[in-house]
This record gives sequence, C-alpha cells and structure tokens, in this order.
Amino acid sequence: MLNKHKIVILGAGHVGSHCAHALCRRWCAEEIVLVDIDREKAAAQAMDVADSLSFPPADLVVRSGDYSDCADADLIFVAIGKARSPGQTRLDLLGDSVKMARTLVSQLSPYPLPGIVVSITNPADIVADYLRKALHLPRSRVFSTGTLLDTARLIRTLSEETGVSRRSITAFSLGEHGDSSMIPFSAIRVGGLPLDAYPQVDRARVLERTRQGVYGIRNRRICRLSGRSYPARPQGCSPRFRPSLRRIRAGGRPLRRSLCDRPGGHRKYR
Ligand SMILES: NC(=O)c1ccc[n+]([C@@H]2O[C@H](COP(=O)([O-])OP(=O)(O)OC[C@H]3O[C@@H](n4cnc5c(N)ncnc54)[C@H](O)[C@@H]3O)[C@@H](O)[C@H]2O)c1
Repeated sequence: MLNKHKIVILGAGHVGSHCAHALCRRWCAEEIVLVDIDREKAAAQAMDVADSLSFPPADLVVRSGDYSDCADADLIFVAIGKARSPGQTRLDLLGDSVKMARTLVSQLSPYPLPGIVVSITNPADIVADYLRKALHLPRSRVFSTGTLLDTARLIRTLSEETGVSRRSITAFSLGEHGDSSMIPFSAIRVGGLPLDAYPQVDRARVLERTRQGVYGIRNRRICRLSGRSYPARPQGCSPRFRPSLRRIRAGGRPLRRSLCDRPGGHRKYR
C-alpha cells in the first residue's frame, strides 16, 4: 500500500467509478474520494464502491467529495468527459474534452494541487498536456494513462495469437493513446523469443486489434442494436495503476514508460 494516501477521482462516470473499484481492490490508498458535477451520481458511485469493501483487510474510506479535496490529495485522477459515440475517434472528443477541462481548471484553481495528476480523459495525452499548462504544474506531476490500455490489449492479443501465457510476454505500445499508437515489434519477447519465432502472427492485425480494443467488436454490434456506443472502461489498464503510481511517487519512470510525456519520442524503436 502507498502509506496513508488520499486519492481523488474527478468524474464519477463509467471510467471514474471503475477506476475507484480497481484502486480499492489493489489497496492503493486509505481514502478515495469521488467528485462529479452531478453530486448525487458521485455519492451513489462512492457508496457502491464502499459497499464492495465490506470485507476488506483494513479500513478504507470511499466517499463523495468536492474539488477542495484535491488540496491534500496525493493523487488526482481526471476521468471527466463523455464516452465516444459510434464512429468517433478519440481525437473527435477533443473539442468537448477541452471545454470540460477548461471548466475543471476553473473549479480547481482556488486550491493548491500538491499531488500528482493522472489524466484518463480522451484524447488522453492532449488533455494531460492542456491540464499541465492550464494548472501551471511541472511536467513531473502530470501524466496521462497514455498507451497503458493499448499495452494491455497488445499483450492480450499476442497471447491469443501465440498461445503463450501473458505472464511470459514482454511487449508495449508507444506513442499517443489510440489510432496513432505504434508497436516496437523488435522489442517484443514472447516466451523469451523475438516475434519472428512466431510466423503465424500477422503484425498488421496485431496493430489493428491493439488500437481498436473493445470498439472493434462491441461497438459495431451494440451500436447496431441500440445506436449507443459501448461505454469504455479502463479495466484493461487498471491493474497497472498501482505499480506505476508507486514508481511515480518514488520519483522513477512509470512502468512500461507508458504514462509519461516523452520529449524526443520513441525513435530508437521500429
Ligand atoms: N485513457 C484511456 O485509456 C481511456 C479509457 C476509457 C475511457 N477514456 C475516456 O474517459 C473519459 C470518461 O469516459 P466515461 O465513459 O467515464 O464518461 P461518463 O460520461 O460515463 O462519465 C464522465 C463523468 O464526468 C463528469 N464530469 C464532467 N465534467 C466534470 C467536471 N468539471 N467535474 C467533475 N465531473 C465532471 C460527468 O458528470 C460524468 O459523470 C472519456 O473522455 C473517455 O474517452 C479514456
């Protein structure tokens, strides 16, 4: 556990509430606070998460709160925004997300922000950069979840295509989260072997499956049925939160180098 820590999650929608569940299961803090412009929604989601903790190994407080909670939070997750509609790319969300982020900045501006800000809102990297500048925070304290989810999807895809356990796969996705993410195929190791040892693996298909995730399958089907998009959930990347956060707090690089803004890019890979 990160000693006596408080985590605030801004935005108690699908992503924010799942983020809270994931953090509780992994015991990342002693207090988790959900904040939403819809106060009742934040209260309901917080209660739901708290109910799931009726048999925890120690006390953990989950509650709804307000923006002033950020003033002494160690970590602030930004999960505001809205889910993608059918056919929308993450970049299509930019206008709406920046508008919401601008409102959020004004809501946060009365308070000091001593903690680390991790932004999930899409387009994740652009919104993180916007927040960093608008909140006047140093580069070392604002991250996006970046290609963490893409990396989770990549490892799952490789495991399915090769039959090798995920635990024996080293792979990561780099660049910007979503349609322009890239995979350094030369750095992949599956069961200790380079990907060339698995000729059945079609790299273009792996890239496509990594970028699309659930949208490739569920969106098409669910949109056909209901006209709505499948609510995106950060389940895929949430197990990486704890080790990544621990490393950020310790002043190190996030795991898999997937959370941070990397000046200079990823040119050494191909
Ligand atoms: N980075 C990733 O890997 C990843 C994965 C999945 C989803 N996302 C993104 O996460 C964002 C949220 O998606 P969702 O499905 O949870 O949407 P959602 O509509 O279910 O929830 C968003 C919540 O944010 C709240 N909100 C808006 N402005 C706010 C503000 N200023 N202060 C507090 N709360 C505010 C809304 O009331 C709503 O409850 C989207 O931008 C989505 O694209 C990112």
